[in-house]
This record gives sequence, structure tokens and C-alpha cells, in this order.
Amino acid sequence: MPVTIVLGSQWGDEGKGKIVDLLAENCEYVARYQGGANAGHTIRLPDGREFVLHLIPSGIFHPGVQCIIGNGVVIDPVALRDEIAMVEAAGVEVKGRLFISYNAHLIMPYHKQLDKASEARLSKSGDGKAVGTTGRGIGPAYEDKFARKGIRIVDLLDRPSFVEKLRQNISEKNELLSKFYDSTDFCDVEQIVRDYEVFDKEMDPYITDTALMLNKAIAQGSNILLEGAQAALLDIDFGTYPYVTSSSPTAGGACTGLGIPPTSVDSVIGVVKAYSTRVGNGPFPTELSDEIGERLRKAGREYGATTGRPRRCGWLDAVAVRYAVMINGISSVALTKLDVLSDLPEVKICTRYERITDGKVIENFTTNLKTLSSIRPIFETFDGWKKDELAGISDRHDLPKNVEKYLSAIERELGASLDIISLGAGRNETLSEKSSVVNL
Ligand code: IMP
Repeated sequence: MPVTIVLGSQWGDEGKGKIVDLLAENCEYVARYQGGANAGHTIRLPDGREFVLHLIPSGIFHPGVQCIIGNGVVIDPVALRDEIAMVEAAGVEVKGRLFISYNAHLIMPYHKQLDKASEARLSKSGDGKAVGTTGRGIGPAYEDKFARKGIRIVDLLDRPSFVEKLRQNISEKNELLSKFYDSTDFCDVEQIVRDYEVFDKEMDPYITDTALMLNKAIAQGSNILLEGAQAALLDIDFGTYPYVTSSSPTAGGACTGLGIPPTSVDSVIGVVKAYSTRVGNGPFPTELSDEIGERLRKAGREYGATTGRPRRCGWLDAVAVRYAVMINGISSVALTKLDVLSDLPEVKICTRYERITDGKVIENFTTNLKTLSSIRPIFETFDGWKKDELAGISDRHDLPKNVEKYLSAIERELGASLDIISLGAGRNETLSEKSSVVNL
């Protein structure tokens, strides 16, 4: 299966970085298709070093892999520069291996200002209206893209037109900041032009026509991973709107975010965490606000890789993940962080919802917030297992019976097989059911 999408099936932070890094070993290309530096993909190398990538695809630590940032990604030059420096400092070659689409839109300083100003305003208005964004300027950058005012990398090549566009944007944004948001924090056109000219020079070696590059690679039968950021339930169309990100992490986004045809995609791997987490606001039917939720947070180190915010934790919501399986055509699941559930007396999976008012059973997920606020989860409960019982296991068939019962129930509920099971952050802490998946 040469072209494979790997995407998040919950609210993000499923451990996609580890899975992409693992699968990348047998690939020639890894391509990011949406989002920006709001993502935080954590990778632990065999020597124990850990890295958090925000923009660079998670294949960069495999020397034979070419990494692509597609047109669908919004690029923060400052974050990208820091990240390239971090990866190079780790002794990894980036030049000649990282390729960025000239059609990708740029995050400008005013996007970050507007993101923060909008969130502050929504927070002040109360009622949990703030989205709880990462503050990385993602929403405002995509707003400009779709309003056809955005600045793309290619625009940097034509200085007079770049400056003209920037002037127009900045006068509009400064007005918005002062009149609507009561801000005194304004942007200076000349400063931005100077900064982005430096960026243009630094980035020049990486910029190319990535759609052409990828389509050629597809024609040659290369093994290609398409790496999603965020996740299905944060999708602008299919997530719990408006508590979503501003891009399309779902499978369709891979095609539009890279310029490759849907017919070229061979399979979709959904990354599913063995429990649920969510960072930011919005509905979360299986959330645990008790000591078990706290325990999951501690054991799973559930703090945002980008913002450091504590993540909300809860039991696995199979209703929500079933929906992600349907929307994305997920045939194969990579289950992560199973080890985090160890040492609990019992573990639970939400298999259905129940309407609070009349007890009506709801089988299918909905993004209708009103409905989501009037349901409660129906759980199936399983006996727990001890962490020691997982030690040294390299084959799913050797897992303790209680673990296997939990895994079989997930497969039954999702209608997809668990082909990869992750028991820790390291590459070697992984069981793969079908070697064909890992070997692509
Ligand atoms: P934004 O993408 O920064 O606009 O944030 C919108 C929503 O998506 C917020 O709830 C964020 O917490 C969430 N979000 C964005 N990126 C990630 C991620 O990489 N993992 C988990 N949640 C994310």
C-alpha cells in the first residue's frame, strides 16, 4: 500500500508522531497536509532523545525519507526556522530533505495577535464561548486564505506586490485590532517586510512545487505517508463546530492539502488513543472530572505538546471513533498508549449514548452541540490489568486475557482491526498484528 494516510481519530494528541515515525522507516516520503504549528508531534528516538515537531513531518528522523509540507499547511516562519535549527542541532540533515509548497499560506504576526485577541474577547463574554485555541494564529490565517487575502510563500517572490498586499492587510487588521478588540498592539509594515525578506532567503532552498513532486513519486510507486495533524473531531466540517480547528484533518484534506488525487490513496490508518483526551473547550461526552481522569493525565503525561495546557481526560468513546472511522474510511487502527490504562481496577468503553430526558439509546455520533449536551455515555466495563503483565511482550497473542478482552471490544465497536498497538513512546514498544502494515 504505497500511499497511506495516517490521521487522528479523536480530538488530537493520539500519538500520531510516534506512529508516523515508526512507519516512515519503510517510506520514501512523508507529507503534512494541513494545520500549522498548532500541532505537537512527539517522537522518541531509540537513544532516548525526545523531540516535539510542530511543522516538519514526522519522517525527518529517518535519513532516507523526503519530507513535504503541502499547500494545505499554514506556515509560521519563526516556528519553522526554530524547528529546522532544532533538528539540525540533533545532527539530522534537513537541507535536500525538506520541501515546502510555494502555495502554502504564511502565518503573519497579525494572525497570532488576532487569534489571541479573539480568544480573550470570547473568554470575557463568559459561557465557555472561547474555543481554547493554541494561539498560533491558525484560524485567522485560514480566514485570510478563504477570503482570498492570504499571503502565500510564492508572493514573497514579487516584492512590490507583496508589500502592497501586506499594506492592505495590515491597515485592515490594525483597524480591527483597535476598533473591535480595543488593542494598542499594532503591526508595522516595514518591520514585517524586513523580517519576511530574511525568511524568504532562508527558506528559498526548501520551496518547490510539492504537488508535482508528490505526483511523480506516486507514478513511480513510492511508499508515501500522508500525515494528518489535529484530528477528525477537530475538523472544520466534521468536528464539534465551533470548537474545532480551522482546517480539514480528515482524509479528504490530504488530497486538497497536497494536490494529489483521491484515487491515489490506498489506505487510511486511524490513530486511536486507548482512552480519550481533549485540550481546549467543547463537548467531551466521556470526560472524567474525578481522580481517574487525574490519574490518566499523570500516567499519560497529558499536557499539551504545544501549549503545555493540561488535557481533559476520559474513557474511550467508541461512538465518536466509529464516526471518525466512517468519515475517513479507516480500515486499520493504530491503538496508542494502552500502557497508560494499566493498574486501574477496571477500564471502560463508551459504546452508545443515552438521551438524558427519555433514556433513548443513541448509536451514532452527532456534531449537534445541543444533542451532545443532553446525552450521557453508556459504558461497557472490563477488568483491569497490571503494568508488569505488559513487560517484555512483543506479540499481541501474549497479552493478558483482560487486555485482549478490551482490545477485541474496541475492534468490535469500531469495525476496524487494531493492526498496531503501542505500549510506550519508544519505537520498540509496539506490537504489530499485520507485519504488512508496518512494512507497508
Ligand atoms: P487552533 O487550531 O489553535 O485554532 O485551536 C482550535 C482547537 O483545536 C483548540 O481546541 C485546540 O486546543 C485544538 N488543537 C489544535 N491543535 C491541536 C493539537 O495538535 N492537538 C490537540 N488539540 C489541538
